[in-house]
Amino acid sequence: MKIIIDTPEKIAELAAERYVELLNRKPNAVLGYATGSTPLGLYAQLAKLNAAGKLTFKDATTFNLDEYAGLDGTHEQSYRYFMNKNLFEHIDIPMENTHVPSGTDTAHAGDYDKAIAAAGGVDLQLLGIGHDGHIGFNEPGTPFGSITHVVDLTPMTREANARFFTSIDEVPTQAVSMGMKTIMNARQIVFIALGKDKAEIIKKMIDGDVTTEVPASILQLHPNCEVFLDHDAASLL
Ligand code: GLP
Repeated sequence: MKIIIDTPEKIAELAAERYVELLNRKPNAVLGYATGSTPLGLYAQLAKLNAAGKLTFKDATTFNLDEYAGLDGTHEQSYRYFMNKNLFEHIDIPMENTHVPSGTDTAHAGDYDKAIAAAGGVDLQLLGIGHDGHIGFNEPGTPFGSITHVVDLTPMTREANARFFTSIDEVPTQAVSMGMKTIMNARQIVFIALGKDKAEIIKKMIDGDVTTEVPASILQLHPNCEVFLDHDAASLL
């Protein structure tokens, strides 16, 4: 892992440069995207660079990490809706090239890995982190060999995400998520964590053992992973 500590604004710029490098080298790259508040600065930056002609997504393909079980793409809290509103509608990607796991047809979740493989595998995977160390929605205890699967969300994760819903009762209890192996198969990873509330888990992820109890700790083993942290998230390192 290569660790880069900077301001949130600078991190958005630096991370966006990775997309410029990749898409200029490989216009039909496969991009793995993430949701949450963390990537919003990067997504704004990508839209800006796209509008300025510095990169194009017209031949790119995208696969998102995860989706809430039970929500279809028109639901305002679905991750499909989030991606459309925060990125896809602001860049030149053909909508048919964008993929988010289905939250309503979850019986064949593992087929998502086949679709990723058929597209050539993920070139650049973006990741954030949950307070318990989850990446995607892979909660502590998820086997490192897992592929895309249905997961039970922990009370901590439902609590953290309740801020987007009118009440915690509306937060789904399950999600569909790329597995740990799916994520580790990406050729390059850009990981971002911002804020004091992530400092403790970042310390465990970077300085602790590689363990399924801290899913993100597996990134210590990835050959091409950059970890972008703001000063708050890095404050316990
Ligand atoms: C959700 C997503 C994760 C994301 C996490 C952190 O649980 N499934 O992919 O990393 O939220 O969200 P935030 O960036 O809002 O802290």
